[in-house]
Amino acid sequence: MRIPCIVAIDGPAASGKSTLAEKLADFLGYLYFDTGVMYRAVTLAALRELDTLDEAMVTGLAERIDIDVRPPSVQDGRKYDVLMNGEDVTWQIRCPEVDANVSQVSAYPGVRRAMTAQQRRIGQRGRVVMVGRDIGTVVLPEADLKIYLDASVEERARRRYLEVQQRGENISYQSILSSMKKRDQIDSTREVAPLRPADDAVILNSDGVTAEEVLEQVKALLADC
Ligand code: CDP
Repeated sequence: MRIPCIVAIDGPAASGKSTLAEKLADFLGYLYFDTGVMYRAVTLAALRELDTLDEAMVTGLAERIDIDVRPPSVQDGRKYDVLMNGEDVTWQIRCPEVDANVSQVSAYPGVRRAMTAQQRRIGQRGRVVMVGRDIGTVVLPEADLKIYLDASVEERARRRYLEVQQRGENISYQSILSSMKKRDQIDSTREVAPLRPADDAVILNSDGVTAEEVLEQVKALLADC
């Protein structure tokens, strides 16, 4: 068994990527890096600072913004702190306004260029489990193990609904389902780095499968590396 140095996990919203990546990184003693937080932070900054999502303005913002991900400083269920220009925005980047606009922002080629460069720098250090939409295809095509984790949109919306309920937020299942369908559509049809499995990715489906079972499937794959 050759332990992979770089693991890439891609797939649509709420397919279980983050849970898998976190457990796998724990098991391997690697850094867990969720690239979605970077696009979310740029979107939050754009919603706050600009009164438009104009491509040139958002791209300029993405090039200036300082985003940092650090070990958790507060015990409130978070897995890490997300800092945007030094401000803790860990929970703000999960709000419905960011959910509704992040796919538009992340489809801008200039925004992707700025974020991909930072992600590659971190990933190429190795010993990392990196999660996103284009890690295996664009960010780290040299990854030793590529997983594409999928699940039906109804199951994914149900999981996200349970998460927001646990946080005490009042959003209906139907609105989560329709926002997710819209995001899937934008993510998989955009011109730059669309959501799709890399040719050499292992495709797994988490419908009706527990997080532990998915982890076991991936551990079995490690043995074949
Ligand atoms: O947690 P969830 O799967 O809902 O979303 P996320 O992973 O935080 O990503 C939010 C959005 O950022 C996605 O819908 C994509 O539009 C974008 N994204 C991307 O384009 N490329 C990545 N590597 C990661 C996220």
